[in-house]
Amino acid sequence: KLEPRIEGIASSIRVVPHFPKPGIMFQDITTLLLNPKVFKNTIDLFVERYSGMDISVVAGVEARGFIFGPSIALAIGAKFIPLRKPRKLPGEVISERYELEYGSDCLEMHVDAVLPGERSLVVDDLIATGGTLCAAINLLERAGAEVVECACVIEIPELKGRERLTGKPLFVLVESH
Ligand code: PRP
Repeated sequence: KLEPRIEGIASSIRVVPHFPKPGIMFQDITTLLLNPKVFKNTIDLFVERYSGMDISVVAGVEARGFIFGPSIALAIGAKFIPLRKPRKLPGEVISERYELEYGSDCLEMHVDAVLPGERSLVVDDLIATGGTLCAAINLLERAGAEVVECACVIEIPELKGRERLTGKPLFVLVESH
């Protein structure tokens, strides 16, 4: 039986068929954010898992990792690092390309944001194919950080994104079908 908090989170995510393209079942977390209790439960579940694990870095993936990551970082006493789409960060960056259904995209990170050996957590709203989280892991590892785990609100298990994370653990609150 699911924890009641998880049930509340699952039922607060709006599924929008055929957005942004035909055949895609869009998992809309903005409806979860409208309920402060459910939003807080989401953050709390991550904070309960990652407190006391000596994690000093929370890296959030643009754009929706920015909604969840900073609250988790503050609660566990970690810094927050934004992993951004190209040409948004002003300092010296490292970049990782990843494949999309059509074409490719890129994530960037400030090179001086982490110190070698720092224990990090990657946060995003959703894992689909896993390409985005794979790029995020690569950025942190290239900068010398250790990736302890990836954390998402939602996983789409059929897409097997978990298998692309090169053995890094993935923690999710909700599975969507
Ligand atoms: C979505 C989602 C994840 C990514 C997951 O972001 O928020 O970041 O896709 O997909 P993947 O596991 O197949 O890589 P999107 O690309 O829509 O970017 P946005 O949040 O900036 O709109």
